[in-house]
Amino acid sequence: MGIQRPKGTQDLLPGTVEQWQYLEETIRSVCREFGYDEIRTPMFEATELFQRGVGQTTDIVQKEMYTFLDKGDRSMTLRPEMTASVCRAYVEDKLFGQPQPVKLYYMGPMFRYERPQSGRFRQFHQFGVEVLGAEQPLVDAEVISLVWNLFQRLGLSGLEVHVNSVGCPICRAKHREQLQEFLATRRNELCKDCQDRYERNPLRILDCKNPSCQTLTAGAPTTKDTLCEECSTHFERVLALLGVAGVAYRVNPRLVRGLDYYTKTAFEVMVEEIGAQSAICGGGRYDKLVEEIGGSPTPGIGFAMGIERVLTALQVQNKLPEEKPRLFAMLIALGEKAQNEGFALLSALRTQGISVSMDLQGRNLKAQLKAANRQGAHYALILGEEELEKNVILIRDLTLGEQSEIPLVDAVEEINKNYQRGV
Ligand code: HAM
Repeated sequence: MGIQRPKGTQDLLPGTVEQWQYLEETIRSVCREFGYDEIRTPMFEATELFQRGVGQTTDIVQKEMYTFLDKGDRSMTLRPEMTASVCRAYVEDKLFGQPQPVKLYYMGPMFRYERPQSGRFRQFHQFGVEVLGAEQPLVDAEVISLVWNLFQRLGLSGLEVHVNSVGCPICRAKHREQLQEFLATRRNELCKDCQDRYERNPLRILDCKNPSCQTLTAGAPTTKDTLCEECSTHFERVLALLGVAGVAYRVNPRLVRGLDYYTKTAFEVMVEEIGAQSAICGGGRYDKLVEEIGGSPTPGIGFAMGIERVLTALQVQNKLPEEKPRLFAMLIALGEKAQNEGFALLSALRTQGISVSMDLQGRNLKAQLKAANRQGAHYALILGEEELEKNVILIRDLTLGEQSEIPLVDAVEEINKNYQRGV
């Protein structure tokens, strides 16, 4: 085998791409209904953006970034996520000058140097939304209900929406202190990563997947125990609104998320059936992030979901639409003269928006009919020497096996009529 694709990446081939397009189209229509506009930002950014935005103590910045020096000796990083990029664009492109809040969505590839396994890639794709410039709990509820609405639309079931509040820097500092105090005597029994986290970012210890760390932290103080009045009122209001919107959520006081920028609301959506990597969506509020990267204080909230994981859930739950026949008709031209005539007809039909293909290798009738069936064509349009002499074309319905002859001059109109009828 020659050159292979990099580990943790995928080729998306025809057959699979249609599933992606279906998901992408559903996402776009839900975003339109909720009044979100699309944003596209560069796939690489100055490394500093993620160091400051995502946070120095996170796994992403410490271990997972694709960072390189460009030819001008600038440190660049392939984006591991897009929230920091959207906040940068909000400041740089002066989106704060537009009516607030600014409601944006995006889809695209992200890059993290993680250990590849089922559901975990080095190039993966996210759909995400970010709302900037509003701090009201209504925004939190709208964002979470957008996720809920999308999953309902896709027909997914068995989803668990976990919600928590990680508080503001003031209540978080209190929690950090209490947590360190609780863990002080057990510190040496924690896994190596959590021992490092003890000073750097003790909150993340609550999120460790290691069973012995989970046992050691059972009964540890959670963020909920230390919320200040403002954060607590905000959280209660979000929960009440989620109830109104019909979102089936569960408060999970141990949910902390792996990125540093979160304040107040944090949430995740899991589906058991897709394996170890069961989180298909994660997000939360980040009221300090815009400031952190150099803008004026601006509240924000959003989420991102892993497209690959949503597709796996759709596959497992058998919720992907049946593949539609891709081709309306296959034009079968036999001989050079018929090819000339057929080529013109092909172009006229395509101008009408009809999907039609033609054999490009001069194969015989049998081989071309076989190809037409394989491509799921409804009709074969057959043009041989005999037909040319009579100035007709043969239209064969490949499903019913019926065929009729029509004058060549009427071909476009007649075929278009069939097309408009739906078959
Ligand atoms: P995140 O939790 O790091 O959050 O990623 C969000 C989702 O992306 C995950 O729930 C998962 O479905 C998917 N994902 C992450 N890493 C991988 C991977 N290596 N392979 C496959 N899928 C993956 C963020 O990225 C935040 N920017 C979300 C956010 C937006 N928070 C506020 N606004």
